Amino acid sequence: MEKPFDKVAPYYDRWIGRFMSGRMDRMADLLSCSPDEIVLDLGGGTGLFARRLLGRCGEIHLLDESPQMVEQARHGEIKTWVGCGTETPYPDRFFDAVVLSDVFHHIRDQDLLLDEVFRLLKPGGRLLVNEVDLDRFWGRVAGWLETLLFTQVFPTGFQHLCTRLEKRGFRLVDEVRDSWSFIALWKLDDPSLGGFSVSHAKLPEDIDRFQVQ
Ligand SMILES: C[S@@+](CC[C@H](N)C(=O)[O-])C[C@H]1O[C@@H](n2cnc3c(N)ncnc32)[C@H](O)[C@@H]1O
Repeated sequence: MEKPFDKVAPYYDRWIGRFMSGRMDRMADLLSCSPDEIVLDLGGGTGLFARRLLGRCGEIHLLDESPQMVEQARHGEIKTWVGCGTETPYPDRFFDAVVLSDVFHHIRDQDLLLDEVFRLLKPGGRLLVNEVDLDRFWGRVAGWLETLLFTQVFPTGFQHLCTRLEKRGFRLVDEVRDSWSFIALWKLDDPSLGGFSVSHAKLPEDIDRFQVQ
């Protein structure tokens, strides 16, 4: 079945790339990877942000539901996977950091997505989120404009996201907010101490064949 971003994939970097360039640099600085870290760009699209991390971290993985977006992202040093962000093929506690850049509001099952991020992160792992902010007037306008382009979007407010992440044991460590959006970094100190667990994460039955293309 065709995914919403399949059609825009060939134009995405040209339209969005220049607009997002400074923002992606700020995100990379905020994430501040070390050379041995494994990072997942979830909903990573054409790899605009994943490419920023080349040379800054040990391994960069990109997962996206749109085969056409992933096609644009293909790069020898980026491990790509076509799949859904709420049910990824990776083992528990596999990543040092997960990135959700401009993707959260495209996913309906947001609690499942946050559970999956919780499952994927190592203790001490980081979550970087770049989003429109429903708490801000221009964020609400941006959210509304997106509904004209996509059939459905599900924007959230910064405070509401903080609450949902705190419930899962994440601690906010840095944030940059403006009139319509935010970039924020959370840390998952030790998932076993928070009393939150993910029992319903479904892994593909053929997990033994786990590999990335
Ligand atoms: C606006 S683009 C952002 C792409 C990239 N993260 C960036 O910042 O340039 C949103 C991306 O989320 C992907 N996406 C939407 N729902 C998804 C899901 N359930 N699982 C994985 N990817 C998803 C889309 O295919 C699209 O590539």
